[in-house]
Amino acid sequence: MPIFSAWCTSKTRLDGKIAVITGANTGIGKETARDFYRRGARVILACRNVEKAKAAIEDIKCNPFPSYFSNSRKMQTADKNGLGDLEVYSLDLCNFKSVKECAKKLMKEPAIHILVNNAGIMFTPYQITEDGFEIQLQSNYLGHFLLTLLLLPKMQSSTPGCRIINVSSRAHIFGKIHFSDINLKKSWWYIRPWKAYFQSKLANILFTKELARRLKEAKINGINVYSLHPGVIKTELSREFDSTVMPGATFIINYIIWPFIKNAEQGAQTTIYCAIDEKTANETGLHYSECCVTSSKDVNDQEAEDLWNYTCFLLRLEINKNFSTFLETVSRQFDK
Ligand SMILES: NC(=O)c1ccc[n+]([C@@H]2O[C@H](COP(=O)([O-])OP(=O)(O)OC[C@H]3O[C@@H](n4cnc5c(N)ncnc54)[C@H](OP(=O)(O)O)[C@@H]3O)[C@@H](O)[C@H]2O)c1
Repeated sequence: MPIFSAWCTSKTRLDGKIAVITGANTGIGKETARDFYRRGARVILACRNVEKAKAAIEDIKCNPFPSYFSNSRKMQTADKNGLGDLEVYSLDLCNFKSVKECAKKLMKEPAIHILVNNAGIMFTPYQITEDGFEIQLQSNYLGHFLLTLLLLPKMQSSTPGCRIINVSSRAHIFGKIHFSDINLKKSWWYIRPWKAYFQSKLANILFTKELARRLKEAKINGINVYSLHPGVIKTELSREFDSTVMPGATFIINYIIWPFIKNAEQGAQTTIYCAIDEKTANETGLHYSECCVTSSKDVNDQEAEDLWNYTCFLLRLEINKNFSTFLETVSRQFDK
């Protein structure tokens, strides 16, 4: 266990709230789903591997309480009415058609109050998706960018108190947006897979800042945006490390350094803090770590705006100066 790991101590209930979590069939996303379910929310696990998500739901239903709850506290909270509802929607962020279909289904929900853009992959071998993008860029950033824009009209009608959480990483400090080679095609041989991950995680932070600014400027109140570093956590994120970092890397993480890093439950705490804590209710566009605001890489607003515009160009979205009008047209534009 790490020497220090902050906990979200908020007692906020989420009865009547609807939360969407991407990549919630394992790791941090699954523990976030467990927490929201225990607080009474309807939780939609938006996942690529639906069977694994169904197994995660079974596990959450059998064990809805965090490990730090005492038995007496479990008994007190065990009232069935206190728990929420769990559902799986299919979502492959590496396929824009799947993102669009998932968003279409989600738009039929009565509301969306919390969106946790959590899914991610790290240090994967070079691969270009069917949509034409480097796979870490699309799954960690572009897919979430599109999903968020498509869901924003529903969130607007679900205000006040809506929150969008982008799970980034401290590793973003090594990142750079490679505007002239966004897929890192030319430089892959010396840039290697970790630069693609760093780029995607920096993009999560720039997206958070720019979305918060645009919402404010358009006077769309009641939707706050957060980015965060969850810590270093033993999850399935290291699944490709043996081939891309060094042989035996997964063994080292799983059997040697694991006692010194967080478990998934601890790793979910800053996400939960941003999503539900009263203390963050009036904050937007900021970056968090260990349940606290923290500094991110010193990025300027221009870079965030440039990335926004470039992402719209990549997704062939025509920008409208009026942000509300733009949001209304995204779904239609994407059908073209
Ligand atoms: N673990 C850490 O130390 C750490 C540190 C900093 C930041 N983070 C960030 O935390 C987030 C969660 O990571 P984790 O550690 O919980 O990893 P994890 O256990 O590997 O979980 C990642 C989740 O993302 C899903 N996913 C991957 N590609 C997807 C796609 N194309 N479409 C839909 N879902 C997809 C995976 O689904 P499948 O099961 O279908 O593959 C899985 O559910 C990531 O954004 C990661 O960058 C983690």
